Amino acid sequence: MKDNAKEVVTETGAGQWGGLAVSLAAALLGVKATVFMTRNSYLNKTQRVLFMRTYGADVYPSPSELTKYGREAIKARPDHPGSLGLAITEAIDFTLMGEGRKYIPGSVLGFVVLHQTVIGQEVLQQMPEEPDLVIGCVGGGSNFSGFSFPMIGARLRNEGFEKTRFLAVESKAAPKLTSGRYTYDFPDTGGLLPMVKMLTLGHDYVPPPTHAAGLRYHGAAPSLSMLVKEGVVEARLMARKRLWRQPGYLQGQSIIPAPESAHAIKAAIDEARRMPKGSVIFFNLSGHGLLDVDAYGNTR
Ligand SMILES: Cc1ncc(COP(=O)(O)O)c(C=O)c1O
Repeated sequence: MKDNAKEVVTETGAGQWGGLAVSLAAALLGVKATVFMTRNSYLNKTQRVLFMRTYGADVYPSPSELTKYGREAIKARPDHPGSLGLAITEAIDFTLMGEGRKYIPGSVLGFVVLHQTVIGQEVLQQMPEEPDLVIGCVGGGSNFSGFSFPMIGARLRNEGFEKTRFLAVESKAAPKLTSGRYTYDFPDTGGLLPMVKMLTLGHDYVPPPTHAAGLRYHGAAPSLSMLVKEGVVEARLMARKRLWRQPGYLQGQSIIPAPESAHAIKAAIDEARRMPKGSVIFFNLSGHGLLDVDAYGNTR
């Protein structure tokens, strides 16, 4: 790579970003990938760990013994389930410890959100008509924002979408959009990244374990947080209980959605029941759950 990176380091909750994206990209570019995966996911999503290792990545459960932040967290709580905030801190600390290492963030920060707007641009190109409702799930905010911001941008410029509602769905495990404070906070638990203004539960919040591990994050992207605060985007909290037991959830679809995406699907089903017939709903299927089928056997 042009800037002589020998190794890329990142965090992951679900193992989608760390597994499908970074490990594969690193293998294609001939650099090493190191991934800090929230411990509860590392222990439960073994196929995703295997997936990353197959691409040659080193995968560590976070908290780990490799960084001082990890060691402190384990000391304070030996059964620490990990959190995305802590995994970010460990990834950055590990990056700073070695020559030729570069840290790649997976969500929250503006340039990650911007990058994901390629999805929303594609939506603008492909959509048959303007939707009445746009839905996505929120961990750090990148898939929801990437999907919806091109449409929201058009609305704010008075270029359409006047009647479209935008709905961000979060997990009960990390309810920052509906119960967080709008204030300056660190994107990572150890406070290594600069503070940003966002809706947050506090950078030391440790969300309870859930199969939708990608939603276990204490804050939301500053841009998305502001749009929720201004009332442009609605926020809804969704309990994880039996999301995939909804009538119609998998009907006629040859796909197993990721547990994170299940939150958006449930919201789409709920809204479709309430809205007038013929209403148009777009939702973002943020990932597949083919490696998460264990979660489907869990009724919690
Ligand atoms: C499938 C899936 N959807 C959603 C998310 C949440 O992240 P973000 O809000 O940044 O899109 C994740 C994060 O790991 C994920 O794996």
